[in-house]
Amino acid sequence: MLIDSHGRKVSYLRLSITDRCNLRCLYCRPQDEWTFIPHEQILSFEEMAELVDVARQAGVEKVRLTGGEPFARKDFIPFVGRLHVKYPDLDLRITTNGTLLADRVDELREAGISCLNISLDTLQRKKFEEITKIDAYDQVRAGIDACLKGGLRVKVNVVALKGINDDELPGFVDFARDNGVDVRFIEFMPIGYQSRWSRDNYWPAEEIISKVEKLVPLEEVLVASRNSGPARMYGISGGSGRIGVISAVSNHFCESCNRFRVTSDGKLRTCLFSDREYDVRSILRDPGHTMQDMLDLFARANAEKPMGYRLLQEREHNQVCDRTMTAIGG
Ligand code: GTP
Ligand code: 5AD
Ligand code: SF4
Repeated sequence: MLIDSHGRKVSYLRLSITDRCNLRCLYCRPQDEWTFIPHEQILSFEEMAELVDVARQAGVEKVRLTGGEPFARKDFIPFVGRLHVKYPDLDLRITTNGTLLADRVDELREAGISCLNISLDTLQRKKFEEITKIDAYDQVRAGIDACLKGGLRVKVNVVALKGINDDELPGFVDFARDNGVDVRFIEFMPIGYQSRWSRDNYWPAEEIISKVEKLVPLEEVLVASRNSGPARMYGISGGSGRIGVISAVSNHFCESCNRFRVTSDGKLRTCLFSDREYDVRSILRDPGHTMQDMLDLFARANAEKPMGYRLLQEREHNQVCDRTMTAIGG
């Protein structure tokens, strides 16, 4: 089991399946030019499965598959199915942009998935295209509808963007209530090369919650699960949906951080905001490597996991690390 010098236990791995994505969200990728990681550097599914073996040995109980867009990688669902068969008690989750979901829900359920985190930053088609550069709003809505019809739980992730979607709180409250889903507003983080972050479009969680409270009575809900993420959730009266905030910038959850990340090119990161990476891929590709070599790397990385990161205070400029979100996996 990985417990660091601050008593934090790593029980959650976020694994980026691919850095490729069919959208170009303004907060996630450089808008003018960017390069994808060359194919040969991306871990194969066999290598990813071995990584999950190591994580399990190290005490990881929850694995979230992210991207880029995980469904953009060929044979992603069979990979999920194999992980589920091998580790039926592993809490296996997916974060997706929802564009490629609509006709895959049955397959996903059969692969062992019961809940999806889906990004949707606006309920307006034209604005969706402005944010993501692609006219795919209807596809995402169809994906969400198909999940709900097919009995999958849905959490909707909304990146909170002042001046862009701060007029849509009433719509999202109705959306949560009418569909019985969790809608979580994530503070815009200044991540990645050429980040578009600025104080003008940063919309703090406290402000969001106090605005929602003016629209509808809220009741804070304690999220019971041990491996739950950093969201603070509130029940909405008169419906089963919930509203939440992830105060990724204003109020750090570093003291309770339970996670490691592995990028699609096989670099282990112990903190979203730190570019310090540990090279898992070279060990995986060394024909003589053992499980112990991997566990040793995990242990070393864990011993060096930073205690925290004060985003806005420590930086003058608007970028905290070089890798883009689509490469790191959110
Ligand atoms: P669950 O609560 O298990 O559903 O997962 P989650 O909320 O951690 O996952 P999701 O992929 O939906 O992430 C939602 C947002 O939280 C994304 O913007 C992530 O980048 C952000 N987030 C997740 N983990 C961390 C973290 O360790 N630090 C920071 N600052 N943000 C995080
Ligand atoms: N700030 C906050 N959230 C972001 N995401 C991507 N980039 C950023 C950013 N700069 C979100 C996506 C997705 C989740 C994994 O991360 O919208 O919901
Ligand atoms: Fe793709 Fe998600 Fe990044 Fe948008 S935020 S470009 S959907 S990886």
